[in-house]
Amino acid sequence: MARPNNMPAAAFLAAILAASCNMCFAAGAGERVDVSTSPNTSAAHPAPGSLYARLGGTPTVTAIVNETIDKVAADPRTNQSFDKVDLKRVKALLVEQICSLTGGGCAYTGDSMKEVHAGHKISNAEFYQLVEVLRDAMRHYDVPLGARNELLEILAPMKRDVVER
Ligand code: HEM
Repeated sequence: MARPNNMPAAAFLAAILAASCNMCFAAGAGERVDVSTSPNTSAAHPAPGSLYARLGGTPTVTAIVNETIDKVAADPRTNQSFDKVDLKRVKALLVEQICSLTGGGCAYTGDSMKEVHAGHKISNAEFYQLVEVLRDAMRHYDVPLGARNELLEILAPMKRDVVER
């Protein structure tokens, strides 16, 4: 879904969020793997023209994710849930997840969005703030507008599994 020129970004995001979730995934329940030293994004084989390739592939997606997580984990508006969290693991699994959802050819090995965010009392405002930070990071790394919107469209339906208040 591309944002029509005459549609404000906020309205576009609201439309995305209202869309039904056809990309929700359920990661297999299992043991928490240690991905901090071996993210399986080395297995990435993005199809030419895939969203993963248009996002810049593993180097750019990794840089975008690192910037996003570092910022939200440091910002008082969004950092309450990140206390005592292994940021290396979150970064590695978020790259892997984006890779798996955008045609990068990876398998996501983390926990389901519901399980992993449960109990962190993440608010709507925190969710939207993370989306803003992610969007800024994608701009920073010169991801084209269409690819930025496509990734946000894929992530937006996960809000229902992340937000608790
Ligand atoms: C679409 C949006 C989001 C996605 C795709 C996402 C994705 C992920 C992934 C892949 C993990 C690691 C999973 C694992 O450890 O198995 C994770 C963990 C985490 N996320 Fe998110 N997340 C999102 C939104 C948010 C928001 C808005 C916040 C808070 C502002 C947040 C806070 C956290 C925290 C604190 C953890 C670590 C939880 C723990 O280890 O107990 N996430 N997220």
